Amino acid sequence: MRHTREHGGARALPHRTTKTSAPHHEDQRGAPSVPPAYAPGIQSTRHMFLLSRRKCRMRRRCSADSDPPDYGDEIFASGHPAQMDRLRALAAVCDPVTKASLSEWALPPGARCLEIGAGAGTVALWLAGRCTGGEVTATDTDIRFMAGLQHPALRVLQHDVRTQGFPEETFDLIVARSVLCHLPEREAVLARMVSWLRPGGRLHVEDPSFFPAASSADPVVRRLGGAVIATLAGTLGSDVDGWARSFPAPLLGLGLAEVGMRVHCPTLTSKNAAGTAWRLSVAELLPVMDRLGVLPEADTVEALAHLEHPEFADVAHAMIGMWGVRPAGRPGERRHGVDQTG
Ligand SMILES: C[S@@+](CC[C@H](N)C(=O)[O-])C[C@H]1O[C@@H](n2cnc3c(N)ncnc32)[C@H](O)[C@@H]1O
Repeated sequence: MRHTREHGGARALPHRTTKTSAPHHEDQRGAPSVPPAYAPGIQSTRHMFLLSRRKCRMRRRCSADSDPPDYGDEIFASGHPAQMDRLRALAAVCDPVTKASLSEWALPPGARCLEIGAGAGTVALWLAGRCTGGEVTATDTDIRFMAGLQHPALRVLQHDVRTQGFPEETFDLIVARSVLCHLPEREAVLARMVSWLRPGGRLHVEDPSFFPAASSADPVVRRLGGAVIATLAGTLGSDVDGWARSFPAPLLGLGLAEVGMRVHCPTLTSKNAAGTAWRLSVAELLPVMDRLGVLPEADTVEALAHLEHPEFADVAHAMIGMWGVRPAGRPGERRHGVDQTG
C-alpha cells in the first residue's frame, strides 16, 4: 500500500504528491497520535462518557462565536480513543450490504477505483482484492485508521473532497459511504464526483437516514434519534434524515443511467455491531448535545444504559444506497427512470 499526502488548495491533483505516514491533523493541530490500542479500557459507557467530556473540554469549536467544526474536529474526533472501534462497528454493520451491491457489477480489467472518506478502509481493501490489474485509491481527511492496510493495488491518499479534486474521467468506480451526509455542500460534491467518472463508470453512494427512530415504539429511541439528528445538523451541517431519504433523485438529477437503490435497516441490540456503533456515537456526542441544550447529560447517560439493556432491540436508522452509471456525453443531462431497485 502507498500512503500519500496531498498539499495545495482547491482542485489540486493527487499525482503531485509526497509519500508520508504522518496524519495531516497531527501536523496542523497537534492532536494526539493514535493510541497503541483502542479497545482496552473503553468497555463501559461511563468510561466513554468521561473520555468524551474530557475531549470536549479540550476543544470548544462548536461555540456560537467560532467557525463551525469539521468532521473529525470535536465531532467524531479522530484522536478520540474509541474512534477506531466506532469505525469498525460501522463497517461490520454496513460492509456485507455494500459488498453485495458492489459485487453485482463486474469491474473492467485494470479498473481504477476511488473510495471517498474511506475511514478504516475495509471496503477499499476488499475492492483492491477484486481489482485485477487496477488500482484503488482510498481517501480521507484523516488517514490514520488505514495505516495498517496492506495491498499492492491500494493507495491511501489524504484528501478533502470539499476542496480537492481529481482529473475528469479518471475512475471506473467511485464509492462514498456515510460521508456526503456530513458535508453541507454534499450536492456540489456529488456533481464533482460524477465528473471524475469515466463514461460507463459507476457511482455508489450510501448514507444513513434516521427516519425509523421517529416511528419507534420506544420513547428513548425516538428522543435519542431526534437529538442526534439535531446535534449533527447544528454543528457539522450534517443531514442524517432527509438527504438519504431523497435517494435516488440526486443521481437521476445528474443524468446518470441504470440508477438503482437499496435500503438496509439494521437491528440494534445491546450485543451486536449496530448497537455498539450507536452507543459509541452517542457517547461521543453526549457533551455536545448537553452544551447545545439538545439533550441533558443525565438523560443521555440514562439512554445509553437503556441501549445496553440485554433485552433492548429496535430499528433506529436505515442505510440507503444509490448507484448509477455515467453515460457517454456530458454529465448533468437529465435522464429519466430508475432501471433497477434492490
Ligand atoms: C462515518 S465515517 C465513514 C467511514 C467509511 N466510509 C465507512 O462507511 O465505514 C465518515 C468518514 O468520512 C471522512 N470525511 C469527513 N469529511 C471528509 C472530507 N471532507 N473529505 C474526505 N473525507 C471526509 C471522515 O474522516 C470519516 O472517516
